[in-house]
Amino acid sequence: MIERTFGLIKPDAVAAGHTGAIISRIEKEGFKIVGMKKMTISRPQAEVFYGVHKARPFYEELVTFITSGPVIALALEKDGAIKAWRDLMGATNPAQAAEGTLRKQFAISIGQNATHGSDPAETAPFELVLFFPEIM
Ligand code: RTP
Ligand code: MG
Repeated sequence: MIERTFGLIKPDAVAAGHTGAIISRIEKEGFKIVGMKKMTISRPQAEVFYGVHKARPFYEELVTFITSGPVIALALEKDGAIKAWRDLMGATNPAQAAEGTLRKQFAISIGQNATHGSDPAETAPFELVLFFPEIM
């Protein structure tokens, strides 16, 4: 089933100059880039985006990091896009990420882990509308 998912290239990877390599890999893996914008996420937008993590001990760190510099927001389309994008990103902790995944190649740490992807629940439409209200 053709699906859409939401992705981010996080501030660590943008700052390190990995934007081009990550976009190139996304296209090689057969995703259609339906939306793409470079932006700096505001504190209020980050609080909505990371609302599900509000009770977690690292919530404040998450919000501070994701607002710390420009990101690339992506709307990605592919057959089974939600799982395919999470598979391409790899495990949350780069120390556990498989060879060939984006986090294995580009992530610095569990906090600065290069990319974000929607979970296979309602989060994809929620995040897509949050960042791409004009196309969703
Ligand atoms: P993401 O939302 O960024 O795609 O990552 P994810 O689904 O793989 O991981 P999630 O559980 O949603 O956590 C969101 C982000 O929180 C940071 N995190 N830190 N210190 C910790 O134990 C810890 N656990 C998670 C990570 O940066 C993760 O991407
Ligand atoms: Mg998540």
